[in-house]
Amino acid sequence: MNQDDKKQAAAEKALSLIPKGTYIGVGTGSTVNFLIDALARTQFDIKGAVATSLETERRLTAAGIEVVSPAVTGRLPVYIDGADEINHSLQMIKGGGGALLREKVVASISDTFICIADDSKYVSKLGKFPLPVEVLPFARSVVAKALFRMGGEANLRVGFKTDGGHEILDVTGLDLSRPLTMEDELNKIVGVMDNGIFARNAANVLVLGTKYGAELISAK
Ligand code: A5P
Repeated sequence: MNQDDKKQAAAEKALSLIPKGTYIGVGTGSTVNFLIDALARTQFDIKGAVATSLETERRLTAAGIEVVSPAVTGRLPVYIDGADEINHSLQMIKGGGGALLREKVVASISDTFICIADDSKYVSKLGKFPLPVEVLPFARSVVAKALFRMGGEANLRVGFKTDGGHEILDVTGLDLSRPLTMEDELNKIVGVMDNGIFARNAANVLVLGTKYGAELISAK
């Protein structure tokens, strides 16, 4: 099984966790794209979806699934999304695709966060993947200096703007051994829109694609 097969296995297994006839949150990335394909192929009974990116909006619409805003749905029963890294407490690094701000909004209004990922993403310690920090372009250098004082090295994602018109700094060197604390500390820096640590909004269940198929994993 290659990495794409594992992503697809995780995405298809997640269908069994989605309640029928409701609005759902749909994330962003290659693993989620397999989910959108599966929703379309099986004509899955959902009312509509809140999308975490313009790209996902486009794909959902092409699949015949109505895209709605959180103003319409209110709270969502489930939100399904990928991750760049996920630890054994189901805390994550996200934002590799640059959609982290909307992703955090959708996570915050969802009762259950279902993470779908291949097994290369499941790690004992977060931090190998550079941490995406979304910044107001005007404040980029101010934020980079603050990150430096915290031990981080910030690299601008060149030529990239988020759907909200912001920039992304990919940050290495920060100590992520206490994800909850670091998530809050980073968000205190003025000019930071949000950061890619999902500890306050950790996943409730991980559907992990492995060479044996997809398995459900809870927080340890
Ligand atoms: C998007 O901003 C990210 O948070 C994605 O969830 C993450 O990059 C996972 O993407 P893949 O499914 O492509 O690995």
